[in-house]
Amino acid sequence: MKTKIFEKDELDESTLDKIGEDIRNGALVIFPTETVYGIGANAYDENASKRIFEAKGRPSDNPLIVHVDSLEMADECMEEDIRKYKNIISRLWPGPITFIFKKSSSVPLTVTGGKNTVGIRFPSNKISQKIIKHSGVPIAAPSANISGKPSSTRINHVIKDFLNRVDYIISDGDCFFGLESTIIDLSGDAPTLLRPGPISVEDIENIIPNLEVPDFVYAKIDYSGPVLSPGMKYKHYSPDIQLVLIDSEDFINEVRNIYREGDIIFCDDNMLRLLPEDFDRISLGNSDNLYDIAKNIFSFLRLDFDTEKKYRRIICQGFSNSGIGLAIMNRLRKAADVILE
Ligand code: TXA
Ligand code: MG
Repeated sequence: MKTKIFEKDELDESTLDKIGEDIRNGALVIFPTETVYGIGANAYDENASKRIFEAKGRPSDNPLIVHVDSLEMADECMEEDIRKYKNIISRLWPGPITFIFKKSSSVPLTVTGGKNTVGIRFPSNKISQKIIKHSGVPIAAPSANISGKPSSTRINHVIKDFLNRVDYIISDGDCFFGLESTIIDLSGDAPTLLRPGPISVEDIENIIPNLEVPDFVYAKIDYSGPVLSPGMKYKHYSPDIQLVLIDSEDFINEVRNIYREGDIIFCDDNMLRLLPEDFDRISLGNSDNLYDIAKNIFSFLRLDFDTEKKYRRIICQGFSNSGIGLAIMNRLRKAADVILE
């Protein structure tokens, strides 16, 4: 298969029509969103969705998020009337947040990993909106990475993982947030956070005061336990080398104890200055603005900077659990082989 690659500036109406038609007919397309790149296909077409699982090497019981470009399209995918949720949705969509609802019969069980619920997201990225609009169907799309690896937030990640394994790649540069959407389950009795993301718990609680935040959002995944949340059951976000997360006030001393040749330390600007000069270290940004760290974290975990493949282990500092920090820490905890607290 030869992948057709388009820059966003090349997407005139006739090109978009052709891509949309191909998606309706079963094409696999990688497209940008404001969170991460998605690898998508017609959500109403079982066979097209199966191609996503194959391309990613994704276990078939891990459900996909369905992307829509309007509330009407979302309504078609869910059993209940979307107007019941208007207060919540109208304040958070379009945007980097996914809601879980009971699914309608239009969405095949292949897409929902056998569940009778469906995750729906109305992204705000203009290119993703255009792709969905020209397809005329909802697009099922997980993050565009090989299963278990860090999500793709740059076009070079997508090309490395999927060139000539998908029909289209649409480029829109670096993703705005760089972390996957917040996921809220609205299908049960109590609204529940399943995955922290760019829309913070603090922000959501202003709109949904009775939001439940389960312990697993903070904790490392437990492979033996029941599958309660996205990414709990499977290895997730794993870099190609070992990752040690040091979530401790005493970061500098802990690093001094374990640092050895072949290590690279991920830290913020401040720690970078405090660490010994001869330790290999790289700044993820200024942690006064955690959005900057979020935007870069996956590209660091993919070791974009390590072109010579010099390093064998990452030692990463912990960040605050507030705001988007909770999402950063959630991904780091899942990616880590070892957590020192
Ligand atoms: O920002 C994002 O959400 C990106 C972009 C492409 O939209 N997508 C994304 O998809 O991160 P993915 O598949 O990598 O993560 C979606 C998570 C999965 O871990 C899945 O378990 C969960 O959402 N999920 C989807 N549908 C669900 C459902 N019906 N019930 C519970 N969890 C669900
Ligand atoms: Mg993913």
